[in-house]
Amino acid sequence: MNRRLYGTLPDGRPVHEYTLDNGRGLTLRAIEYGGIITELNVPDAKGQGANVILGFATLDDYVARNDPYFGALVGRYANRIANGRFTLDGEPYLLAQNDGPNSLHGGPRGFSRRLWTVDAANDTELRLSLVSEDGDEHFPGRLEVKVRYALTAEQAFVIDYEARADAPTPINLTHHNYFNLRGSGSALDHELTLACSRFLTTGPGLIPNGIAAVPGTPFDFRGPQRIGARICEGDAQLLAAHGYDHCFILDAADAQRPMPCATLRDPASGRTMDVLTTEPAVQFYSGNFLDGSLRGSGGQAYRQGDGVCLETQHYPDSPNHPEYPSTVLRPGETYKSTTVHRFRTT
Ligand code: GAL
Repeated sequence: MNRRLYGTLPDGRPVHEYTLDNGRGLTLRAIEYGGIITELNVPDAKGQGANVILGFATLDDYVARNDPYFGALVGRYANRIANGRFTLDGEPYLLAQNDGPNSLHGGPRGFSRRLWTVDAANDTELRLSLVSEDGDEHFPGRLEVKVRYALTAEQAFVIDYEARADAPTPINLTHHNYFNLRGSGSALDHELTLACSRFLTTGPGLIPNGIAAVPGTPFDFRGPQRIGARICEGDAQLLAAHGYDHCFILDAADAQRPMPCATLRDPASGRTMDVLTTEPAVQFYSGNFLDGSLRGSGGQAYRQGDGVCLETQHYPDSPNHPEYPSTVLRPGETYKSTTVHRFRTT
């Protein structure tokens, strides 16, 4: 395990970067700020490594410019809560709003913008924790969160999440890596497979407003499809979101056992990533808001589709949808979630 000073926050607090290495070409770098993964190096068939995630070159960039949430841990509630409002056990709550009237990714000071504590680290594992106090971004209850990043000998990068609260609260944790398995250029020519026959349609502000079946639509990724192949079709859902930015529902979900969710493959390098998760859904986001105004770690400008997110999670706006799987964590319960990213070459 390798630890170094990565930078200093505007308030003077130091931020360290940790390097994990599985000894088989898979390496990961992560910092305490936002639990951000700054680099994930994955070998191709010839053993040639490439950094497969988008990110910035400096801490200052992550602090000042990370509106895309590059590489970050997201919480207390990933994705959107309509108008920042919900009612829990008869109590109305109004969250910090940061996406028009909506609450996005936990609010303006969500977990992606916090300094996490490193509880333990070794060559293949990093354990992070964060305490989110009662009233944090106006969420109820004190929440203790633990996240573990691990690299396995089987070429997998695993994220385990755990949390406990002292009062009922909604919770939806995810990770916001933008993947580009070639390491540069566009990810729109990657092939994507999603084990999902249904997705949530969205209305104004990308708030879910229904469930649709994928057959016969550009949302059908049940077999491998080039991401860019149908992204410019005149489909109303694609037009409104400027691409893919939708929650897909797993056909087979199991909260106890990571289930197949997605496969992303770069035909040029052969790098292939299987995503398995205990979550019931995945937000597939094709990096639509990347407009060339941000410069990445390699100096390049990031444009739409240069990286794609596969954010395993519960459904957006669940606190306002009793018909969705519940996101409420109650005192005495333990929130647990696991997502596996398994790399191979094809
Ligand atoms: C995604 C979300 C997008 C956008 C992005 C951050 O998770 O689905 O709509 O908000 O984060 O730029």
